[in-house]
Amino acid sequence: MVQRAVLIGTGSALPARRVTNAELAERVDTTDEWIVERTGIRQRYIAAEGETTSTLAIAAARAALAAAGVEGPSIDLIVLATATPDQTFPATATIVQDALGANGGMAFDVAAVCSGFLYALGVADSMLRSGMARRALVIGAETFSRILDWEDRTTCVLFGDGAGAIVLEARESDAADAPGVLATRLHADGAHNQLLYVDGGVSTTGTVGKLRMKGKEVFKHAVTNLSEVLREVLADTGVSAEQLDWVVPHQANQRILDGTAKKLGLPPEKVVVTVDRHANTSAASVPLALDTAVRDGRIQPGQLVMLEAMGGGFTWGASLIRI
Ligand code: UT7
Repeated sequence: MVQRAVLIGTGSALPARRVTNAELAERVDTTDEWIVERTGIRQRYIAAEGETTSTLAIAAARAALAAAGVEGPSIDLIVLATATPDQTFPATATIVQDALGANGGMAFDVAAVCSGFLYALGVADSMLRSGMARRALVIGAETFSRILDWEDRTTCVLFGDGAGAIVLEARESDAADAPGVLATRLHADGAHNQLLYVDGGVSTTGTVGKLRMKGKEVFKHAVTNLSEVLREVLADTGVSAEQLDWVVPHQANQRILDGTAKKLGLPPEKVVVTVDRHANTSAASVPLALDTAVRDGRIQPGQLVMLEAMGGGFTWGASLIRI
């Protein structure tokens, strides 16, 4: 019998406040046309006072638990991906754990910025398959609005806040087409640290800092790295690009989504796009997009779904799941 981590529920949460490009253009030297043409973004959600990474994560986790039909106390592992934790410590995952009544299991955060959800998924999948845990919540949650330089039009128009979550359960099966995470590949290359970073931190400036990005450089690496890692996961699983039912990418820029799909020969209608509505929500973007396509009925049981992301570090990764 083979042990697999099976996806049994998804959920997501967004802040109440929606901010359109037109609204941003009143505060920043930009236009709706520029943002739409260069990125595909039309709006984003921005957390208000009282809305934090943990409140969004808890709401997304509750929605995922309800979709899975399981209770908080049955969760023995919470892996939360974020670059914008509520506090330096303890881990935001522990705040979520307490709110859900899952106390006593494992709970920790992972920091891999926009690829964080893929890293969290890889860790949870390994722990479920090894028998260390039985039922896991994997969460991506961010309040990037709190680390944006609202004077810098080259970055502040690109990001938004939100959270997405999935419930994974360890199940045994011998069937070749059994559901579960089939393969995950993760990479990092610290040589590119300075292309996308925050200019502050606990151990350096003692401040939170603001996001800085050389967008053009990041863009170039993104399409190359993503198409490579997607090919690796396809090779690992013996699945061809044509056999994929859906690709759920990190939502940074419509042009990156188009460029990656084109390189792999994937039809655009198989790519789940939410960047127009959510903007780039970093670690939250993949699970937010996944939950959107599950809830609107596009993603169905039995289908092959590829998740992928790339972000600061650089870090990047992909994971193939049979639903
Ligand atoms: O999630 C992690 C991964 N992050 C990403 O994947 C982001 C990757 N990068 C990108 O998505 C794109 O590079 C951007 C959307 C950030 C920028 O698009 P671009 O086509 O590379 O534009 P650019 O940086 O070359 O800027 C073109 C022009 C510049 O003016 P000049 O120098 O040509 O006169 C910018 O000053 O657009 C100007 N510009 C703006 N104009 C209006 C930059 N930001 C804005 C703005 N509104 N918000």
